[in-house]
Amino acid sequence: MRKPIIAGNWKMNMTPSECAKLIGELRPLVESEACEVIVCPPFTDLAAAKEALEGSSIRLGAQNIHWADKGAYTGEVSAAMLKELGVEYAIIGHSERRQYFGETDEGVNLRARAALACGITPIVCVGESLAQREAGETEAWVGAQTKAAFKDMGADDAARVVIAYEPIWAIGTGRTATSAQAEETIAFIRAVVRELYGEAAAEAVRIQYGGSMNPKNAAELMAMPDIDGGLIGGASLKAVDFSQIVNCAAEGAK
Ligand code: PGA
Repeated sequence: MRKPIIAGNWKMNMTPSECAKLIGELRPLVESEACEVIVCPPFTDLAAAKEALEGSSIRLGAQNIHWADKGAYTGEVSAAMLKELGVEYAIIGHSERRQYFGETDEGVNLRARAALACGITPIVCVGESLAQREAGETEAWVGAQTKAAFKDMGADDAARVVIAYEPIWAIGTGRTATSAQAEETIAFIRAVVRELYGEAAAEAVRIQYGGSMNPKNAAELMAMPDIDGGLIGGASLKAVDFSQIVNCAAEGAK
């Protein structure tokens, strides 16, 4: 039985004081035993977030990680730096990173492995564009992204990875994939993990759906057998909406 995992991707939103305020609103609403709940604020908010989360079951995540321990990489942040701030998860290879900042499959693999080496759980994002879906290329594209992300990774590490399937056309557009579309591609991703690492890893690996997930569609998505959670953008900035999504995931787990 895989524990549901709901992560809020705050993207480039919230100053440190706004972050502390939102966490204060979230805490009474989303403490959950049945579901792993993570907030991923910007790097500059992490110290404030750590303090605001003191004693909470809500976990802290970052939005990226560099692959090197340290060195001449202006503007980048290492796993060790994040670890010391209480970070336990990191979103890796979000489509916005790939699209606007030139991140490659190779870099995604290096970043994910650096996270694992430091005890941070990578949330590796994969997903196709609308043109790719319409051309029938979804599985080829998402399969290749998934295989590239796991390159040179041992089975034990692979089982700890969280994958977020985020069709690019559904991110921030209000246009969610149907639960059937999301399930179909997520089951395919699980089959890719099975091909790479065997049954035990495929059953252990948690795969989230992301892309305009909200309190209205969360229950239906979470009811799908291969969907283990959500990576939530817009709705994660509203405490009530985020808590309703968490509740859907927690209810389904009972
Ligand atoms: P959205 O973003 O929920 O606002 O569509 C999801 C994401 O980009 O992770």
